Amino acid sequence: MKIVRTERDLRNTVWGWRGSGDRITFVPTMGALHEGHLTLVRLAKKYGERIVVSIFVNPTQFAPGEDLDAYPRTETEDARLLEAEGVDLIYVPDPQTMYDVHHATTVKVGGVAQGLETDYRPTFFDGVALVVTKLFNRVQPDTAIFGEKDYQQLATIRRLVEDLDMSINIIGAPIARDGHGLALSSRNAYFDADGLTLARKLNIIMKKCASDMREGQHVDVATDEAKRALLEAGFSSVDYVEVRSPNSLTVLEGGYLNGPARVLVAAHCPNQGNSVRLIDNFAV
Ligand code: PAF
Repeated sequence: MKIVRTERDLRNTVWGWRGSGDRITFVPTMGALHEGHLTLVRLAKKYGERIVVSIFVNPTQFAPGEDLDAYPRTETEDARLLEAEGVDLIYVPDPQTMYDVHHATTVKVGGVAQGLETDYRPTFFDGVALVVTKLFNRVQPDTAIFGEKDYQQLATIRRLVEDLDMSINIIGAPIARDGHGLALSSRNAYFDADGLTLARKLNIIMKKCASDMREGQHVDVATDEAKRALLEAGFSSVDYVEVRSPNSLTVLEGGYLNGPARVLVAAHCPNQGNSVRLIDNFAV
């Protein structure tokens, strides 16, 4: 497995593979890898002969005051895990070469990128769209894999690729969960035992919300009940519990389920005098 840090080394290797007829599948990450990322890598193998994984904690998707500095960085362990999965190349760009001092371009996605996360992290998807565009331009993959855990991010990237005519097949990977149903996330590393116990309740509450709606409960009633249950369980605040259509993420008409939908949640879980923001989503 190669570890490359420069754009030139990346392009040389990938062009060589492409010249031999290999298809490139790309898994962008911010490192601090866990089983969830490894499921993306395993899925990647189905789509190409060569797997490239990037590790880059992208500063432009963190707002001032967010956890950019605290975000876990575990490159040696990440490389060990990726090598064991048979990854061909890890790309670890330097932040200065990703965004040089003259950088002046933004990438803004409308529609699916509006509302939900953007109401609470207004610049998040601008940062994601920018770095993903740059990584796609550098790696030039045939296919790229993103987790469904960041459901709105996945929808935003699909929109970006469609709108900017990028010839890349975007694949969504099902959410990987621990034995208690908590969606795997690099930020789960922040939890102490009490935080983890509470975080695991989110899944139970949201599954009940989904099942109530499936059985005919009005969407507003079910989501209000879920918000109340999260607060009663000990979550310090709930940013949203919302039901949207699965692809366009538009608000459901009529207030009752009349086809497939997705319920999306963001809530703050108290932990060691601070809080960890959890996001998750469930098919209904
Ligand atoms: O989902 C992530 O880990 C990041 O948002 C991504 C897609 C790697 C862009 O930095």
